[in-house]
Amino acid sequence: MAKRQPEMFELEITSLGAQGDGVGERDGVPVFVSGAMPGDTVQVAARETRRNGIYTELIDITENSPGRIKPECAHFGACGGCQLQFLSDDVYQAWVKDRTAMALAHHGFDASLVADPIITPKASRRRVAMKALRVASGVVLGFNERQSHQIVDVKACPVTRPELTGLFDPLRKLLSGLLDQRMAATVHLTMTASGVDILIEAAKELDLAARESLVEFANYHDIAALHWQDQGFLDPVAIRREAVMDFAGAKVPLPPAAFIQASDEGEAALVRVVTEACAGLGRVADLFCGIGTFSFPLAKEHQVLAVEGAKNALDALQGAANFASGFKQIVAKHRDLFRRPLSAKELEMFDAVVFDPPRAGAKDQVAELAKSTVQRVVAVSCNPNTFSRDARTLADGGYRLESVQPVDQFLWSPHMELVGVFTKDRKPE
Ligand SMILES: C[S@@+](CC[C@H](N)C(=O)[O-])C[C@H]1O[C@@H](n2cnc3c(N)ncnc32)[C@H](O)[C@@H]1O
Repeated sequence: MAKRQPEMFELEITSLGAQGDGVGERDGVPVFVSGAMPGDTVQVAARETRRNGIYTELIDITENSPGRIKPECAHFGACGGCQLQFLSDDVYQAWVKDRTAMALAHHGFDASLVADPIITPKASRRRVAMKALRVASGVVLGFNERQSHQIVDVKACPVTRPELTGLFDPLRKLLSGLLDQRMAATVHLTMTASGVDILIEAAKELDLAARESLVEFANYHDIAALHWQDQGFLDPVAIRREAVMDFAGAKVPLPPAAFIQASDEGEAALVRVVTEACAGLGRVADLFCGIGTFSFPLAKEHQVLAVEGAKNALDALQGAANFASGFKQIVAKHRDLFRRPLSAKELEMFDAVVFDPPRAGAKDQVAELAKSTVQRVVAVSCNPNTFSRDARTLADGGYRLESVQPVDQFLWSPHMELVGVFTKDRKPE
């Protein structure tokens, strides 16, 4: 039987959706087109009908939007990252703000609360996870194509720090001597305060020659630390200096694969908003604290309780807090905040609470915060939807949302961070 041809039609794009797709309308139904933007007229093929509209494939742009620019990256279109590189700066910035406002409006908040976004510059990404595959001609090293496991062999990456992009070719050469045919690996590169940290994950036990080539690579490229992870086993192959992060002058050792913010600039923007929101208040709890991105800058002024579920991250924070000087007391607590959130009663002793959960948000912790008497709550989030849901719970518990600051550390992609500041007025005694 002949396969049914997808329906083709022409469409005017009028807005950008939450994932950055161009959106038009057909017979009152939203139509999503990846690679299109407001002002474009496009020819599309219908691919899939979902609950929220029709998803299509872009066949041709018959009329270009005046806001469309030429993407500078040679891998644009093939590489799954940076898919919004064709938007002019103005259009991109307006979309980051609108996206946050749309998510908040869905939960009854006013769009005027959203500040102009802080967008990190090009060449600032300090952490990348790359895919590698040994093929007959050598090693393919790069990022996945959009919605695919195919790897794009990336030679240059305009969003990543040059200290890391400069290692792409040497790593290809190194890995082609280490990986067997068709063997895959994941390469994590992080620019730390003490130099580049490398973690290579591959299902391969290292022999002496392989170990020597890794050490030689680390020496030649002045790598701070290089670990090899063969399934569960983490091998510190070349530790030339401890990989450390610097938070407000405190040197915190970075456990392999522990969370850090994606750029120096993004971290600085988030820290500024968080510390300003807590300024002048007393004790602060930093929930989902990681290795202390906010705990140390906060401890310049406040006593801090730092709570985290990953033991290695918390141990790194605690160890650094024991040695750092010029800070108020930091108490580190290991706790699963999904299963055992801090109760409203436990929160009573704090004047401010900062929380920065994973993408899923912090539903149960927020339910306790909503019941609490904490004066200021600062929510850091990487998901405008779960942020808005949690903001609604806080507002229903008597908190006033004062401001929302979007911070975009993932230029030209739909990923972003934001910080919301909430206040609850103390009841008169
Ligand atoms: C988005 S990161 C933020 C870390 C830190 N605030 C920072 O900016 O570097 C979220 C943190 O939540 C931690 N986490 C995830 N699930 C958790 C849980 N159930 N209980 C406590 N912490 C958890 C992760 O280990 C991670 O450190």
